[in-house]
Amino acid sequence: PHGYADELSAVLIDGATLQAKIAELAAAVAADHHLDTPPLLVCVLKGAVMFVTDFARALPIPAELEFMAVTSYGSATSSSGVVRILKDLDRDITGRRVIIVEDIIDSGLTLSWLLKNLATRGPAAIDVVALLRKPEAVKVDIEVDYVGFDIPNEFVVGYGLDYDERYRDLPFVGLLGEHMYR
Ligand code: PRP
Ligand code: MN
Ligand code: MG
Repeated sequence: PHGYADELSAVLIDGATLQAKIAELAAAVAADHHLDTPPLLVCVLKGAVMFVTDFARALPIPAELEFMAVTSYGSATSSSGVVRILKDLDRDITGRRVIIVEDIIDSGLTLSWLLKNLATRGPAAIDVVALLRKPEAVKVDIEVDYVGFDIPNEFVVGYGLDYDERYRDLPFVGLLGEHMYR
C-alpha cells in the first residue's frame, strides 16, 4: 500500500513495534526527569521528525519542542563528520534541560558534533534519546541515555530516515533493497 514495495528487501521494525518502544522510552525519560521545568525536546531535522512527534505525544510530562536542521557532508550512504547547520534553534537554551531527539546513530559523528555545539550554549543538562543505533558502525565514543533499538549495520530507511530524500514517509523502518544503491 505504501508504493515502495519493490525497493525494500524487508520490514525491519514494524509500526506497532516502533510505537510500543516509543512509549517505553517516553516513560523512562519522564521517570528520570525533574519536573521543575519542562524539558526542551530538540528534534534533529529531518530524520527525527516522525520520532519526535510520536515521542512528544507519548511523553507523560509537558515538554517544549525545538527544531534544528543539520546535515553531514559526505556521500548519501556515509557520514563524514563535517556537520553543517541548515536551521539553528530559535531560542536560547541557557539553563534549560535539553533532550536531543535523534532518529539514528550511525557513525555517531553528527551527534558528537551536536553535543559539543549545544554544550557551548550553557544548558542545565543535555540528554540524548535515539530511536536507532548501529553498534557496528559507531566510530566515536558518545554517551546515549536512551536508545530504542540496536540494529545491524545495514541500509535502513523509513520513519524519517531517507536515502536521497526518499522513504522518510514510510510508517515503519525497512531495509533498502541492494539493487537501489549498488
Ligand atoms: C542522518 C541521520 C542522523 C545522522 C546519523 O542525518 O538522521 O542525523 O545521519 O549519522 P552519523 O551517526 O553517521 O552522523 P542526515 O545527515 O542524513 O540528514 P537528515 O536527517 O536530514 O536525513
Ligand atoms: Mn539526521
Ligand atoms: Mg539523511
